Amino acid sequence: MEFIKLTEQFEKHVALIELNRPKELNALNLQLMQELRDTLKQLDNNTEVRAIIITGNEQAFAAGADIKQMANKTAIDMLLIDQFSTWDQIRKTRKPIIAAVSGFALGGGCELAMTCDMIIASETAKFGQPEIKIGVMPGAGGTQRLTKAIGKAKAMELVLTGRFLSAEEAKSYGLVNKVVPVEMYMFEATQLAKEIAAMSPIATMLAKEAVNRSFETFLDEGLHFERKNFYLAFASEDQKEGMAAFVEKRKPDFKGK
Ligand code: HXC
Repeated sequence: MEFIKLTEQFEKHVALIELNRPKELNALNLQLMQELRDTLKQLDNNTEVRAIIITGNEQAFAAGADIKQMANKTAIDMLLIDQFSTWDQIRKTRKPIIAAVSGFALGGGCELAMTCDMIIASETAKFGQPEIKIGVMPGAGGTQRLTKAIGKAKAMELVLTGRFLSAEEAKSYGLVNKVVPVEMYMFEATQLAKEIAAMSPIATMLAKEAVNRSFETFLDEGLHFERKNFYLAFASEDQKEGMAAFVEKRKPDFKGK
């Protein structure tokens, strides 16, 4: 892999993915995205992994899709490559993903962060959908996920002007979970990942799926889906272990079965 650095056992049950095109501010070219999709698929199938962190570097999480790679494409080229539909595979990752964001998270970079389940930001993080400034618009969920995350008025402002949101603003709008000083954002993301990785991976998978369903369906259908996943959790040994540990006043030891 050229543009992705993977540390499978970053912490116990936690994998770390680093986007690694620093000179281009981690601009998301086709190869990087393919490597990211392959890596996530591999981690999803690895029973040792229970939580995933995606990060860039201090300067940039990712400054968007690779403009140089797209600049001369025709609409038919774009249609045939259809690079953004394959982003759905990232959304379909079943394990929890935390984006650890410092610096620029713009365009496709902001969309990638929003495709993750939670965002920990450094104080220097800047979120935005500046595609409008280069004559296009968001293409990998920006108009949908940003609007759901921060509401119509603010999303419209960002998408139509290309302005950036500071980390603090992003937090006040509910886009990010926590903002910390730049030297702390990886630590904070790791703490969150470790906390999640200590839970039953079956329960976290079922719960992630149910929360995501709330964005995709009506309340009645979502509640029905949630109940089914709740009942399904009782098929796991982890449920027996979790409830027994509570009754016996000890820490549970989840096995992912
Ligand atoms: C290709 C990029 C890039 C990008 C930065 N670079 N962003 N290359 N695609 N999205 C490259 C620059 O060309 C430059 O390389 C190097 O990274 C450093 O960038 P600078 O511009 O010199 O840095 P700075 O002056 O600090 O400005 C940082 C910046 C700016 C504000 C983030 O780079 C910028 O505006 N980038 C584009 C942001 C953007 O429009 N993103 C949306 C892309 S469209 P060289 O070799 O020239 O020195 C998109 C579509 C989404 O994402 C659709 C779904 C994915």
